[in-house]
Amino acid sequence: MFSQLHCANKIFRNLYNGEWAESNSGQTIPIHSPVDGSLIGHIQAMTKEEADRAIQNTKTNLTEWANTPIYKRAEVLYRAADILVKNAETIADVLVMEISKDKKSALSEVERTADFLRYTADVGKGLEGEAIGGGNFPGGSKDKISYVTRVPLGTVLAISPFNYPVNLSVSKIAPALMGGNAVLLKPPTQGAISALYLVQAMNEAGLPAGILNTVTGKGSEIGDYIVTHPGINFINFTGSTGVGKHISNLARMVPLLLELGGKDAAIVMEDADLDSTADNIVSGAFSYSGQRCTAVKRILVMDSVADELIKRLTDRIQALKVGDPRDNAHITPLIDKKAADFVQELIDDAINKGATLVMGNHREGNLLSPTLFDNVTEDMRLAWEEPFGPVLPIIRVKSRDEAIAIANRSEYGLQSSVFTQNINDAFYIANRLEVGTVQVNNKTERGPDHFPFLGVKASGMGTQGVKYSIEAMTRPKAVVINIEEHS
Ligand code: NAP
Ligand code: G3P
Repeated sequence: MFSQLHCANKIFRNLYNGEWAESNSGQTIPIHSPVDGSLIGHIQAMTKEEADRAIQNTKTNLTEWANTPIYKRAEVLYRAADILVKNAETIADVLVMEISKDKKSALSEVERTADFLRYTADVGKGLEGEAIGGGNFPGGSKDKISYVTRVPLGTVLAISPFNYPVNLSVSKIAPALMGGNAVLLKPPTQGAISALYLVQAMNEAGLPAGILNTVTGKGSEIGDYIVTHPGINFINFTGSTGVGKHISNLARMVPLLLELGGKDAAIVMEDADLDSTADNIVSGAFSYSGQRCTAVKRILVMDSVADELIKRLTDRIQALKVGDPRDNAHITPLIDKKAADFVQELIDDAINKGATLVMGNHREGNLLSPTLFDNVTEDMRLAWEEPFGPVLPIIRVKSRDEAIAIANRSEYGLQSSVFTQNINDAFYIANRLEVGTVQVNNKTERGPDHFPFLGVKASGMGTQGVKYSIEAMTRPKAVVINIEEHS
């Protein structure tokens, strides 16, 4: 089991230079559970000076780590995966209470993270470089050979969101480390304790001191400082579009990977298998209470089959368990009151503008019942804004071209689903959607994690996915050998 190195009396520390350290500020941030308000613990409110020290410290062992053979880097990730699995129940229980994630999904997040570590280690070992002959290009010569390897960028700033504080931290940390970088992790404040358990696993797996440091504290207070710090060589951010745009404006010449918000559409054609479609939409829209960037956040359904689809959706939504994540409820209290109030605002706006409330719109504190609207129109905020909660609007359309036009009018472009049994319709629609990924006859989702995962427009910049993330956080280094033919 985990040694409680990073915590004493529920005061969680940061990893700095291989040791668990409290902030000199003496300031801590209490973390209460959105499930029952109980105190989970305190995290450090680090000062800018301490953030600076943490970044500078990542430089101390960077060269040694960059020169560490890739198979040895991989061994650290394999060991970290094993430690995570051994402590999966402990970490999952923290996730349940810290971010109100149902136990089944919390365990899945930890197991998925272990899989991510192993797969990243496997792929990282494939970074073997290449040799390119000069004779292939007009005017070149076979006596010129370019030996190309991939080298690290330096210190990666990894910033992760509350809804996957373990998995969306490792999705940055693991590829960065395999690429030979050092990492400064800024976890979400609500989710930081879960993320620190991941960091403890990586530290116990034998990472050299200073190659992974953490900085906890409110993003609104120390975020700009770390984002603009001259010691940061790459920023890997997952979170809201608003914060992502803010970071992008500050980042100047520092390369970025941004995974932001979404408003994923499920387009349902007349010939769709409506039972399978309803299964996918309900799972896609209401898993983790809709707090997923890839959640299905609007349905664009052909009017001729809308009534039949709604019957199936209603049956499935009524079967969803609402309540305590410790009892594996599907719908659990949202992360905080601000989030719940925002969802309620969108619901009220839709009702005020004439949408048909099919079911839901019940609230107890931050626990909102799964809510379904029909006849949502384009003047309603719910048609365009990202609720990040358990509410789903249906917009009826008359043609596939109308569905494509509405889908593309969104500021977001993460994913879309198309439900049809006609391969020609599937490709006609998929080829015209301005998104990173189109799922055919499946809910929108990020996994499996070796697939490319990207958002366009307001949904992000750059591409995640194991191989893609390693490439994003490394660069080519070419050494050209010029052979002199002795006459
Ligand atoms: P968020 O409020 O943007 O916060 C994300 C992270 O950024 C947190 O660690 C936060 O720290 C930090 N942060 C906040 N202000 C910052 C600043 N000025 N500089 C640097 N860092 C700053 O997002 P969230 O509420 O955690 O997650 C929900 C949002 O993220 C939704 O919009 C969702 O769609 C999006 N998301 C996207 C993906 C994807 O893969 N595309 C995945 C998950 C979530 P604090 O916690 O201390 O504020
Ligand atoms: O919002 C988190 C995003 O990465 C979605 O992941 O696997 O739930 O589709 P997933």
